[in-house]
Amino acid sequence: MIEIPTKIANLRLKNPTILASGIMDEDAGSMIRIFKSGAGAIVTKSIGLKPREGYPNPSVIELECGLLNAMGLPNPGIEEFKSEVIKLKKSKVTVIGSIFGSNSKEFTVLGTKMQDAGVNALELNMSCPHAKGYGLEIGSDQKIVEKITTNVKSSVSIPVFVKISPNLTDIPKIAQSAEKGGADAIVAINTVKAMKIDIETQRPILSNKIGGYSGKAIKPIGIRCVYEIYKKVNIPIIGVGGINTGEDAIEYMMAGASAVQIGSAIYSRDIYVFEKICKEIKNWMKTNNYKKIDELIGVANL
Ligand SMILES: Cc1cc2nc3c(=O)[nH]c(=O)nc-3n(C[C@H](O)[C@H](O)[C@H](O)COP(=O)(O)O)c2cc1C
Repeated sequence: MIEIPTKIANLRLKNPTILASGIMDEDAGSMIRIFKSGAGAIVTKSIGLKPREGYPNPSVIELECGLLNAMGLPNPGIEEFKSEVIKLKKSKVTVIGSIFGSNSKEFTVLGTKMQDAGVNALELNMSCPHAKGYGLEIGSDQKIVEKITTNVKSSVSIPVFVKISPNLTDIPKIAQSAEKGGADAIVAINTVKAMKIDIETQRPILSNKIGGYSGKAIKPIGIRCVYEIYKKVNIPIIGVGGINTGEDAIEYMMAGASAVQIGSAIYSRDIYVFEKICKEIKNWMKTNNYKKIDELIGVANL
């Protein structure tokens, strides 16, 4: 197991690679496997107050340079999911509970329940590009983002991260609202709004028509967002979007990220991608005479 000690707020990780929300993180078994195979922490699937079926298939398709999904936030609801968190804690997994809601009260109730179940930190998903009434609809409003963050922060004692969307005109402003509300870190980015049309049937392929694009193609977008946010906030940023290699992770760090999340690369590489990326980061640092990842954070951001 590769150790690259990393600290985000008061959350200590054995390395800076974290499993992104929504990929192989619905049940404790797969999350334990991924943690044991080298991830520094795991973010759970986004969980709401009540069970949700999500959208009918097709809900995920593979495109040339990534995945297009409109899952519709399927999840078992917090009461059912608590038992998965308890299993994760028994296996000593560092776990970040992702939650979504339609208003501040829902986020606060969910945050408290996740904390009681034992998560190490919370990630507030205010950036889903395709679930009506959730995600972007609240995450694009500065006042709402600040209010939700303030209320969750005052109800829990664990670190609170806010995950924001690339589908906004002024991304740093939303990050600043989260910071004003007391967020301990910003997570950027969620998927990029996109569509695929089948030219034979002449219809969008996804049942929801519009989805979110992830994987290699979105890395330059994520890098730009992290770069812009880094200039405007004083809290750590966790970079996510299209990371497949150690070099990709280093690029995010140079833009301003203190840690990274990895999702789609599990499909293009495999579940050992965390260990591989850590090895690639270490090798690059050794070749280039860096001792700590702190020395890389934001260096491209003059
Ligand atoms: C199938 C799928 C489901 C996802 N579900 C969630 C989710 O429930 N909550 C969330 O915050 N992000 C979700 N995401 C977004 C990822 O966490 C991540 O922000 C995005 O995929 C970009 O990272 P990547 O290019 O490494 O996959 C999902 C992504 C995919 C591909």
